[in-house]
Amino acid sequence: MKVGIVGGTGDIGEGMALRISQVHEVILGSREEERACASSDACHLALDEKGLPCTCSGDSNQDAVDRAGVVILAVPFQHLAPTLASLAGFEGKVVVSPVNPMVRKDFFFFAPPPEGSAAQLVRRLLPGKAAVCTAFNNIAAGSWKALDAPFTHSVAVCGDDTAAKAVVMELVGSIPRLAGFDAGPLGVSPMVEAITPLLLNIAKYQKMRDVGIRFS
Ligand SMILES: NC(=O)c1ccc[n+]([C@@H]2O[C@H](COP(=O)([O-])OP(=O)(O)OC[C@H]3O[C@@H](n4cnc5c(N)ncnc54)[C@H](OP(=O)(O)O)[C@@H]3O)[C@@H](O)[C@H]2O)c1
Repeated sequence: MKVGIVGGTGDIGEGMALRISQVHEVILGSREEERACASSDACHLALDEKGLPCTCSGDSNQDAVDRAGVVILAVPFQHLAPTLASLAGFEGKVVVSPVNPMVRKDFFFFAPPPEGSAAQLVRRLLPGKAAVCTAFNNIAAGSWKALDAPFTHSVAVCGDDTAAKAVVMELVGSIPRLAGFDAGPLGVSPMVEAITPLLLNIAKYQKMRDVGIRFS
């Protein structure tokens, strides 16, 4: 599988690359190719030190889209629409949104766009021939990066395209110890995205770090 990560220089993009690039070819994207190459170099260094394989490379966001079959949109919600407007060539791609629209005041709360969720906004903005799914919304970047800690999270996967959802479930299942759960159509995505501010509130009030979920 070739996995492109738009905004791959950020917290979640770098964290995902550490685990996904051991199993699949990962293209980290950025608005600045140099930044993506620096993130890719850091990924190689971290995995080389542990004697683990790494197939990461850095590129522009557009090249990350063009070179991949699966494109993960790892940008903050407020930059999602402008980022999509600056990119093309999503037709035929499986597009994964881990994006959680939320606001922090005294506590974190879900702040979705009028479409209902970030994923549904992506669906509206991209051409019909792009298949949009949600996945990886509820795993903290710190958990992706802590390679020596247990990584037994559950991943709720939503989408309207059965074949695309199967590809995303396969991607989730290929990462050791992650378990994918089919949560239904994209209409379920507001509920998946809203879990993340809940996890952050639990982390804040319980004084915990990197709180995750596990379905059983
Ligand atoms: N962090 C987490 O623990 C976590 C967990 C689950 C889901 N998520 C979701 O994943 C997404 C990314 O989160 P993050 O924490 O990785 O975000 P982040 O580190 O703040 O930003 C990610 C990347 O977005 C790009 N970016 C920043 N400003 C931009 C702008 N004005 N226009 C276009 N691109 C811009 C940057 O890449 P370049 O400057 O290189 O272009 C940056 O490295 C969010 O939607 C978040 O809800 C995050």
